[in-house]
Amino acid sequence: MSISHIEHVGIAVANLDEAIAYYEGTLGLKCYAIEEVTDQKVKTAFFKVGDTKIELLESTDPEGPIGKFIEKKGPGVHHLAFAVDDVNKALTDVEAKGVRLIDKEKRKGAEGLSIGFLHPKSTLGVLTELCGEE
Ligand code: CO
Repeated sequence: MSISHIEHVGIAVANLDEAIAYYEGTLGLKCYAIEEVTDQKVKTAFFKVGDTKIELLESTDPEGPIGKFIEKKGPGVHHLAFAVDDVNKALTDVEAKGVRLIDKEKRKGAEGLSIGFLHPKSTLGVLTELCGEE
């Protein structure tokens, strides 16, 4: 597996509009896309910071993954996403090295990218996403 850069940092927020106001108004970043990922029960907002993006995640359902995360831990950094060229191959590679996977196979994430999550129990507590075109 070869990681080229940090694709994005996923941040769980309680209110997307308030969070966008902070990222735009205070930090001076520009929100370039808002997208609902019904599969994940989230509404997302994206900002570019160099080659890396910030992905804000607001839950659309208290029973969804972000809803449960905020209930347990409150808003904050949720996951780190590394860019790889072939997500399925990268998942197979890390699994062979003993990492427990959340996703055995890639699935569709925001922005039409393929994504797969590694279990935080295997990644020193950091929910890790592998993300790529393939
Ligand atoms: Co993500």
